[in-house]
Amino acid sequence: MCGIIGITGNKVNPEKAINMLSRLDYRGYDSAGIALNTGERVEIEKGKGKIQQAINKEKLPNRSEVALSHTRWSTHGEPSQENAHPHTDCEGEIAVVHNGIIHNHDELKEKLEKKGHEFCSDTDTEVIPHLIEERLNGREKNRKEVLKTIKKVKEQIKGEYAVVVSLKGRKELYGFKKDSPLCIGINPDGEENYFSSDIYSFSHLTNQSIALEDGEKALITPKGYQIYNGSLQKINRQPEKFEWNQEKTNKEEEHHMLSEIKEQPEAVKRLLKKQNEEGLGRLTQLIKNHERTVLTASGTSYHASLLGAHLLQDAGRETQAIIASEYQNYIKPGEKTLTIGVSQSGETMDVVKALKHAEQRNSTTSSIVNVPKTTIPRKTQHSVKIHAGQEIAVASTKTFTNQVTTFARISNQLGEQKNIKKLPIKIEKTINKNEETIKDLSKQLKEEKHIYIIGEGPTYPIAREIALKLKEIPYIHAEGMMGGELKHGTLALIENNTPVISLRTNDKMLKTEEEIRSKGAKIIPISTETELEIPEGNKIEKALCTNTIGQLLSYYTAKERNCPIDRPRNLAKAVTVQ
Ligand code: G6P
Repeated sequence: MCGIIGITGNKVNPEKAINMLSRLDYRGYDSAGIALNTGERVEIEKGKGKIQQAINKEKLPNRSEVALSHTRWSTHGEPSQENAHPHTDCEGEIAVVHNGIIHNHDELKEKLEKKGHEFCSDTDTEVIPHLIEERLNGREKNRKEVLKTIKKVKEQIKGEYAVVVSLKGRKELYGFKKDSPLCIGINPDGEENYFSSDIYSFSHLTNQSIALEDGEKALITPKGYQIYNGSLQKINRQPEKFEWNQEKTNKEEEHHMLSEIKEQPEAVKRLLKKQNEEGLGRLTQLIKNHERTVLTASGTSYHASLLGAHLLQDAGRETQAIIASEYQNYIKPGEKTLTIGVSQSGETMDVVKALKHAEQRNSTTSSIVNVPKTTIPRKTQHSVKIHAGQEIAVASTKTFTNQVTTFARISNQLGEQKNIKKLPIKIEKTINKNEETIKDLSKQLKEEKHIYIIGEGPTYPIAREIALKLKEIPYIHAEGMMGGELKHGTLALIENNTPVISLRTNDKMLKTEEEIRSKGAKIIPISTETELEIPEGNKIEKALCTNTIGQLLSYYTAKERNCPIDRPRNLAKAVTVQ
């Protein structure tokens, strides 16, 4: 997964390209690079590490008409200067940025090397500029030939890709895609246009975009754009307006993760105000019209789906949640199944593939997504927005809360009576009441190697989610499980002072706590009457307030351990490869 950007304009400078790229660094941050095409030359500056350290803008011309930039999350070839994008052909005249994987790159590279092409990286991407160079060799580098070349290259490469290409001497950029996302941003001043992996890189500059479909090719110039179908016929497509909340909260904290945790009351209020009743009603109707509902998702969104399944079951609907990468192994979709993809980014490839599989087998598909205009809402028959706004930290916090709140609203439409109007104030109270206690507790937990979290019913998904957060952010091994299951194996790992966080929602959990305390465990309870305290409320309120305590605990423990909180190692926010 990577973030790619292309800019065409009359006054493009490194500053602008870096600024736009920084807005995509949540897609990957192990290396970065920029190519500026001045017409006479293509200058490249790239390196290992985060954008600011990887790119020395002083080495670049301060003005050009075309820029490409890339932030990388490595899949082929370790993070290094050589492997950072953009990649070029032998002459350094064709520059390419790519997000995805070219599966047949070894075979293509071998053929190209036999023809005399020289490679300087271990990446799969580098075959693309060389394939373009090979096809254009001896031909005019005009628009028609370049487009024909791209068509030919597309026939040769196998895999998932979003690619943007710049050629020396051409004041335009070419883009094409399959499975990985690529969109065009249209600047209203008529002097600049963009290619990007998603709208966030340009959403401070324009609210008009066009999403490209698989098989299409496009070019942008400073003043316009053109889209072509697979046979290079022109397609007429108008930009669409998008709405995207990027308000800064009044609580600007040291890290995005903490700002986003503290923004949750606002995010829920925004959802309650903006989430379209009609769209939600249609989803509720779809759930009623199908014999069973399958929720499919990854990571934090999967945990929200587990809780969602519990709530829909409560409301009398047969529902299950399945990890998206396992959908094909465990689900037999058909006409009687409604499959709902749940995703913050709207781009997670495992979810995209699960939904594709479901649709091919006649399952109706719908989605619950945060980022608008992305692949998942575009590819499903129906979609609901969660209005959490931009989430920048890799760890999902406010989007989990808004996903669960969406399920709560659906279950209410199905006849449940769970009042969630007071949820914002209860989350706020939870933060205010517990933050200092959590800071102290994190000092005690920072040296731990293993932490167990137990829950039951609605807090089982929360136990899983808190465990995920403890792994992702402070890098502590954590297991979230059903309290009742502990005695069937995991109990063997409980030693003197092993920390066990108990999400105590009822007296049954007290019995489990007693059992593990007798084996020496240090119990850290969260309930309405313990030091880590949640307000009284219904099961959704209690679950989400409990989760907020878990989020803060992960955050402060990571801070104690000096971890890179917003950009944890080896992870990316949008995983667009399988
Ligand atoms: C990645 C992120 C997780 C996220 C998961 C699903 O693994 O690191 O934080 O929960 O993807 O992402 P989605 O955008 O589909 O919710």
